[in-house]
Amino acid sequence: MDNRFRSTPGPVTRWALAVACAVVAVTAGCSQGSEEARPSPTTETLTSEQLARSGGAATVFNDGAGAFEQPVPGLTGEERRRFAVGNSLFNRNWVTAPASTTGRDGLGPIFNAQSCSSCHFRDGRGQPPADVDDPVRGLLVRLSVMEDGEPVPHPELGDQFQDRSVRGVDPEGSVRISTTEEPGTFVDGTRYSLAVPTYELVDPTGKVIEDIMISPRVAPGVFGTGLLEGIPQEDLSAAEDPDDADGDGISGRVHWVTGADGEKVVGRFGWKAAVPTVEAQGSGAFNGDMGLTSTLNPDQPCTSAQAECNAQPNGGEPEVDDDQMATVTFYTRTLAVPARRAVREADTDRGEAAFGRIGCSSCHTPQQRTGPDPVAALSEQTIRPYTDLLLHDMGPALADDRPDRDASGREWRTAPLWGVGLVPTVNDHTRYLHDGRARNLTEAVMWHGGEAQAARDRFAKLSTADRRALLSFLESL
Ligand code: HEC
Ligand code: HEC
Repeated sequence: MDNRFRSTPGPVTRWALAVACAVVAVTAGCSQGSEEARPSPTTETLTSEQLARSGGAATVFNDGAGAFEQPVPGLTGEERRRFAVGNSLFNRNWVTAPASTTGRDGLGPIFNAQSCSSCHFRDGRGQPPADVDDPVRGLLVRLSVMEDGEPVPHPELGDQFQDRSVRGVDPEGSVRISTTEEPGTFVDGTRYSLAVPTYELVDPTGKVIEDIMISPRVAPGVFGTGLLEGIPQEDLSAAEDPDDADGDGISGRVHWVTGADGEKVVGRFGWKAAVPTVEAQGSGAFNGDMGLTSTLNPDQPCTSAQAECNAQPNGGEPEVDDDQMATVTFYTRTLAVPARRAVREADTDRGEAAFGRIGCSSCHTPQQRTGPDPVAALSEQTIRPYTDLLLHDMGPALADDRPDRDASGREWRTAPLWGVGLVPTVNDHTRYLHDGRARNLTEAVMWHGGEAQAARDRFAKLSTADRRALLSFLESL
């Protein structure tokens, strides 16, 4: 375990200071006398308030267990009501059809979870099971096979492995995870170890399922998704550098996908940015994760080979009606981003400078701007998500070797880093990366390869003080 969760004294005081600093503009007094701190040139010009407000007007000053589940400030009365109904839809346990409560039946026939929040607990992130007896919560496995050189869903199991089912139907099986340790040493002599996972899918009879491509993924946090959705498409494609024209070894590219109307749109959501909108992600989750149909995904998750699955009664057509879908989407889009803590402290300023210097910010773009949005707090905001939302080749160690739409098995979306330091507080764990393989932030960085290899190597060479400062900076996000 990473034990660097030092208790930072008085975040409230710091926020108060941040606000005071914003009022008097940036002065030496506001940087808290941090002579040795070298904030990077771009952040030097920002006030502490601007640095703290990761989500612009959609920021909440909450660093407790509820940090990811707050509505954006300034919702109208009607919007607050929708948020509350959406919250209950997100948290509700769906039940098997037919049920007396027709508004929430239709679960399965095969599924992974009964509610959105069982994977996105408190709107945060899931983790892999601790051991074989631990139920899999918040980790799901996408599937495909190759047919004529193209990835297609598995003929019997479809494109997702559902390890639970309603009575009378077999689940597709279970996931077995084993790990081996790969130790390493930083240039300063400190040791670390990476846990390399191996996955096996086992059918209900205990037989290992062969010849299948798999992509295990944990549930990421869902807060701030309305802001990520609002970054104009042109801004994201302007940051692309597919042929690495600037020669920095980093060649991010937009994941172009097909939108609801058949047009090419920017993929933004999921670990491979394969999904263009919050609505499409939610509808896909209702369907693949919970076995619930909606207008965008009208078919049950059963394949034609799954007769029992196809024979089950449904909970309406669709099971999640358009109003429910829109309300869950509204709720997810209007989840606020928690404010940064420890802004303009010597340690975090030093860490932030290192983050820029060693090239982390080449992908984890500190600042973005959103376009117009009907919700005031989401509209035209300067935000600090630390992502370019682009796909990067992250090397063979992180690869799942399963193409997903246009993303290769080695490509992943730059993970947004806002809120990353609050995962232990909200979700009570420190598992990072797409399948939760990293057991702390240090391991998360040391797993980086491919386009991020140079940045990772520079991280490994940092002085002990700089490495600690960089981790403090990440924890302050
Ligand atoms: C079985 C676990 C599970 C359940 C249940 C689940 N999710 Fe997810 N969610 C995930 C995973 C895993 C991802 C990443 C998917 C990917 O990489 O393709 C994700 C991604 C998301 C994202 C995108 C976040 C981002 O920044 O990329 C949103 C939004 C989301 N889920 C909303 C929902 C909603 C709404 C529900 C309920 C209808 C739901 N999820 C139910 C596991 C789950
Ligand atoms: C080439 C682009 C790139 C560079 C450079 C880069 N990252 Fe990343 N980072 C990513 C991608 C892509 C992921 C998601 C990878 C995955 O989940 O498999 C990620 C994930 C992370 C995560 C885990 C986030 C989460 O939600 O689980 C952390 C922490 C992180 N990066 C920190 C850093 C730091 C610190 C540096 C500099 C040493 C850095 N990154 C450099 C692209 C990059």
